[in-house]
Amino acid sequence: MKSNPTTEQMKRGEFMRSLGLSSAALMAFYCMGTTLTSCSKSNSDPTPSTGNPTGSGFTGNADASKGAVNFTLDLTSSTYSKLKTAGQYAIVGGIIVAKVKSGSVIALSKTCTHEGTEVQYRATQDDIYCSNHGSEYAVTGAVKVGPATQALTQYKANLSSDGNTLTVTA
Ligand code: FES
Repeated sequence: MKSNPTTEQMKRGEFMRSLGLSSAALMAFYCMGTTLTSCSKSNSDPTPSTGNPTGSGFTGNADASKGAVNFTLDLTSSTYSKLKTAGQYAIVGGIIVAKVKSGSVIALSKTCTHEGTEVQYRATQDDIYCSNHGSEYAVTGAVKVGPATQALTQYKANLSSDGNTLTVTA
């Protein structure tokens, strides 16, 4: 009798587990054996790309590997104007910048301290979330839920009095 794919995956999983492979390796194994769409993209390459944005509205350095973080965003530019609205966020080089529920603007390292996946801001929960293994951080960068154990690096974010220029510094 032909068994269904789930049963086959279970059998393969048990077999691979008996070889002592990690769950991540098992997931890769499942991905190879099934269609690509059955795998979330977080399992493909969890390392976010770095480097500074090349588009308009950005000036300075937002990549900590290239030196001290110090940049400005023009919030009148089409790329960054969304940061005037609470609940919105943007990835700027190696930094996640968000206008959180309270109305403050925050800037944190975008790199999850667990295994380096790019995090996101969740407006509903008003937190920072890593979709790879589910770590949750407060908007201060502190860990709320693991597996991450280290806080995200926090940067200073200052809005000009007219609200049009955001400066982020280490
Ligand atoms: S890489 Fe973020 S929770 Fe694992």
